[in-house]
Amino acid sequence: MDFLHFSLILLSFPAIHAAIFTLQNNCNNTIWPGIQPGAGHPLISDGGLQLKPHSSINLTAPHGWSGRFWGRDGCTFDDSGNGRCATGDCGNVLQCKGAGGVPPVSLAEFTLDNPMDFYDVSLVDGYNLPVSIIPLGGSGNCSSVRCVTDLNVKCPDSLQVKGDGGSEVVACKSACTAFQKPEYCCTGEFNNPTICKPTNYSQIFKEACPTSYSYPYDDATSTFTCKQANYLISFC
Ligand SMILES: *[C@@H]1O[C@H](CO)[C@@H](O)[C@H](O)[C@H]1NC(C)=O
Ligand SMILES: *[C@@H]1O[C@H](CO)[C@@H](O)[C@H](O)[C@H]1NC(C)=O
Ligand SMILES: *[C@@H]1O[C@H](CO)[C@@H](O)[C@H](O)[C@H]1NC(C)=O
Ligand SMILES: *[C@@H]1O[C@H](CO)[C@@H](O)[C@H](O)[C@H]1NC(C)=O
Repeated sequence: MDFLHFSLILLSFPAIHAAIFTLQNNCNNTIWPGIQPGAGHPLISDGGLQLKPHSSINLTAPHGWSGRFWGRDGCTFDDSGNGRCATGDCGNVLQCKGAGGVPPVSLAEFTLDNPMDFYDVSLVDGYNLPVSIIPLGGSGNCSSVRCVTDLNVKCPDSLQVKGDGGSEVVACKSACTAFQKPEYCCTGEFNNPTICKPTNYSQIFKEACPTSYSYPYDDATSTFTCKQANYLISFC
């Protein structure tokens, strides 16, 4: 095929959009974001990186990518990337390589180009850090999702995770994680959106972060769409 015809074929397809994720650390401490791709999707940045206070990094995800981001804090890693974190650990390594963060972690979740982008902030696995998703560009609804309330200070005693010192609350478990009951996890006979309802525990999360998932069937107020956008994910 000659070059002209080859070029015409390329031009006849719409450009394939790869999304840029800007990870921004607005916390006053260093954080170590973790990135877990959905099954069958490629790793980004080997699944983990360090982000100094008030710094940001751009990462590119291919068309159709899905996965989740979370923040880890209070980490110490040696030169070979082994160590541990106060919250969000993914197996005592800097680069999570496909592993997820141990709950409780606040999650920023994405499914791109399906055929729109779907995104949400989920506290279904609990909360550790404030996190927001702000679409940049794109078309459609493209609402920002901001979960910026410090839930660690509002966390009921029975859900608190304390740091090494034993006094500071570093994360807040979901009732599902803490009590493993079907009515909190929406499992078993509660595996149905009309039966599994908000609880006194999930309501604490919903009040703090009204546009985030506070329990598994919280879809109506917690899932958002946009098309061909880039995304700012900010922590704190
Ligand atoms: C960071 O520190 C400043 C100054 O002490 C304070 O005003 C701000 O609220 C802190 N930010 C966070 C996210 O804790
Ligand atoms: C956009 O999303 C917000 C939040 O879900 C919703 O309140 C609003 O009605 C939506 N707007 C349109 C035009 O769909
Ligand atoms: C939630 O309700 C349960 C049972 O009704 C009760 O045992 C628990 O103390 C309540 N927790 C909070 C944080 O209100
Ligand atoms: C990061 O990506 C955004 C697009 O979302 C772009 O505007 C910005 O210039 C990029 N920054 C760097 C340093 O490449």
